[in-house]
Amino acid sequence: MSIFWIYFMLFVSAFLECLCSSTTNNSDVKLLLVSFDGFRASYLELYAFPNLQKMITSGTLVKHVNNVFVTKTFPNHYSIVTGRFAESHGVVANTMYDTATNKSFSTFEDKDPFWWNEATPIWVTNQQQGHKSGGAMWPGTDVFIHNTTPSYYLNYNYSTPFSKRVDHIIEWFTNSTGPINFGTLYWEEPDSTGHRSGPDSKELKNKLKEVDNNIGYLIDQLQKTGLWNTVNIIITSDHGMAQCSDKKVIQLDNCIGRGNYTRVTNSPVAAILPLSDVNYVYKLLSNCDTHMKVYLKEDIPDRFHYKHNKRIQPILLVADEGWTIVQNGSITQLGDHGYDNALPSMHPLLVAYGPVFKRGYKINSINNIDIYPLMCRVLGLKEEPNNGTFGNVRCLLASESCVGLPDVIGIVIGSLMILITVLCLLILLKKRATPRRAFARLQLQDDDDDDPLID
Ligand SMILES: *[C@@H]1O[C@H](CO)[C@@H](O)[C@H](O)[C@H]1NC(C)=O
Ligand SMILES: *[C@@H]1O[C@H](CO)[C@@H](O)[C@H](O)[C@H]1NC(C)=O
Ligand SMILES: *[C@@H]1O[C@H](CO)[C@@H](O)[C@H](O)[C@H]1NC(C)=O
Ligand SMILES: [Zn+2]
Repeated sequence: MSIFWIYFMLFVSAFLECLCSSTTNNSDVKLLLVSFDGFRASYLELYAFPNLQKMITSGTLVKHVNNVFVTKTFPNHYSIVTGRFAESHGVVANTMYDTATNKSFSTFEDKDPFWWNEATPIWVTNQQQGHKSGGAMWPGTDVFIHNTTPSYYLNYNYSTPFSKRVDHIIEWFTNSTGPINFGTLYWEEPDSTGHRSGPDSKELKNKLKEVDNNIGYLIDQLQKTGLWNTVNIIITSDHGMAQCSDKKVIQLDNCIGRGNYTRVTNSPVAAILPLSDVNYVYKLLSNCDTHMKVYLKEDIPDRFHYKHNKRIQPILLVADEGWTIVQNGSITQLGDHGYDNALPSMHPLLVAYGPVFKRGYKINSINNIDIYPLMCRVLGLKEEPNNGTFGNVRCLLASESCVGLPDVIGIVIGSLMILITVLCLLILLKKRATPRRAFARLQLQDDDDDDPLID
């Protein structure tokens, strides 16, 4: 009986705390969303990040972020800011072709709102709900999505140094006429070096030191301007990185003549637009290489959430981890991503720091589409329809009480101690009562009904 009551009361108190914590005034809350492209989750276990660790120690760490398929830059950056799978936000690849309009999209030709308008990114929603947003080169922030850019933004230029991007962010948060409450910041590393030299290389290791210094610069600037400890920061990434090898190459020319198809995307996930009969092309490709899965669009696994969009081409080739798809020849880079989003090597991490986030809190995983409802909650915004689940990320917030494993162990040990105490008392009582035997037995029998644990 005692255990039951302890659990019951714990649940009641947790429930009441949840109810109370959901009513807060968010109008002063500031949030900065940062992406270091291609920051693989396991880098944190392999290398030292003194500056990032400062934020982890007094913030929250999510060790693995389950990103969306395809594990490429544009689809995942748009999933983070819309909370939607690629099929539902429309940016289904870094390179796209729309048959109906004959339009093309690439990372260098990305300004046509057509490609972005199937969803609404959080910076637009933030502005529609009365605030100002800033965009420092996050993909899409220099595009007129639903006729709107961020209140302040930079045109994408990869040669703009990290420090300059940070300086703009700081200026926007402190602008005396119209400060932002939400900013996004993007940096191309460690992705570029990961591609060029591979995730296992010395070059990558050195680049990660530089990335940590970048984080150090951001912290310094926030401290200097008094924003540190008022701005909430989420540092995350779009995807991880896999090591490629010239021994892992799939050559399409060995299997199919080039006149049969157009490659809309290349590797490691190739979108194939057949020029001859779809089933004929599919048959040639599916017999090509055991290290590549070949799907007709309608057979793409449901777990990819990568089917229901006309920008997804009729045939999809998905290379196994570390394999490269080419027409002929060899690999051009030592690292790549885009592979199956269930692979740990494709996962980034997430670090959250600031007044709204728990301190010294670690969890194993969330989905990157859950970051959107988290940010909406932090900023007090009404969400657009999305595929994320706030319940998955609720515990990152300081205002939410969550029973973790240490708490559970505490409760179990505590309950056992109370139970043992009660048992000891009962035994003592029983011993004392032995002289008056008949009466004691009667009492015990009475008790039996409502206390099955002592049976
Ligand atoms: C929230 O707080 C701000 C200033 O602290 C105030 O101006 C605003 O009216 C408050 N909003 C609500 C909904 O209470
Ligand atoms: C299609 O591929 C097959 C097999 O390689 C080849 O024989 C044929 O000529 C190709 N057709 C075109 C139109 O390129
Ligand atoms: C994802 O969200 C969109 C927009 O609300 C919705 O249309 C779609 O059905 C959702 N997808 C899944 C798999 O629930
Ligand atoms: Zn990349």
